[in-house]
Amino acid sequence: MTHTIRTIAIDGPAGAGKSTVAQALAQKLGFLYFDTGVMYRAVALAALRRGISLQNEPALAALANDIFIEVLPPTVADGRQYTVLLDGEDVTWALRQPEVDASVSVVSAYAPVRQAMVAQQRRIAQRGNVVMVGRDIGTVVMPDADVKIYLDASVEARALRRYRELRLRNVEVTYEEVLASMRARDELDRTRAVTPLRPADDAFIVDNTDMDAEDTLDYILNLIERVNQAHLAA
Ligand code: DC
Repeated sequence: MTHTIRTIAIDGPAGAGKSTVAQALAQKLGFLYFDTGVMYRAVALAALRRGISLQNEPALAALANDIFIEVLPPTVADGRQYTVLLDGEDVTWALRQPEVDASVSVVSAYAPVRQAMVAQQRRIAQRGNVVMVGRDIGTVVMPDADVKIYLDASVEARALRRYRELRLRNVEVTYEEVLASMRARDELDRTRAVTPLRPADDAFIVDNTDMDAEDTLDYILNLIERVNQAHLAA
């Protein structure tokens, strides 16, 4: 089967299952899987560690341009999807701390922080054969992506998934806390002035509230095949 698809953009709110489906897709297609959320998380973690106030936009902008973020294939077999180095240090799990969850939406709302991250993401996108995941991939980073998917689910379903993930890693947290944090993050991501979370006009909107990971993957593979067939027929 000839494949005409080289770039796939997956956007949507936290906990919609973007990373699970993107990793499986990338594996199936032999593409690079790139989760742009880790870049914003790395800036947030660096800010927390250096004691930079989340209100200090100029300092956060300077930080975003100063730190060196690398995303590599997993270097440890501990369930991670990739390894993230922040100035050479393995911060893969540190990026998932609730403190980072609570501050990343603030950090990622600043235009200069986004500019620094988007420039790096576009360089990766240009190489093609990539499944890129985030909030603005279809609208800003890869507006010409061959397939754009906007993955969504109810906030309760997303909070439950995130809660289970955290409990599996023995993070002390209640479902109510996760739900409240998810609602707050949704609000910030959707209402921020600079490139708020929204589906691209030509995105396929997939609501997987009542689908498991396998069903979601099948559904999206089907969509991709339909786009491929349409390209071939054109
Ligand atoms: O996908 P995630 O939960 O790891 O993303 C962390 C935060 O980063 C999220 O609150 C919104 C922000 N983000 C963004 O603004 N743009 C992206 N392309 C990816 C993530």
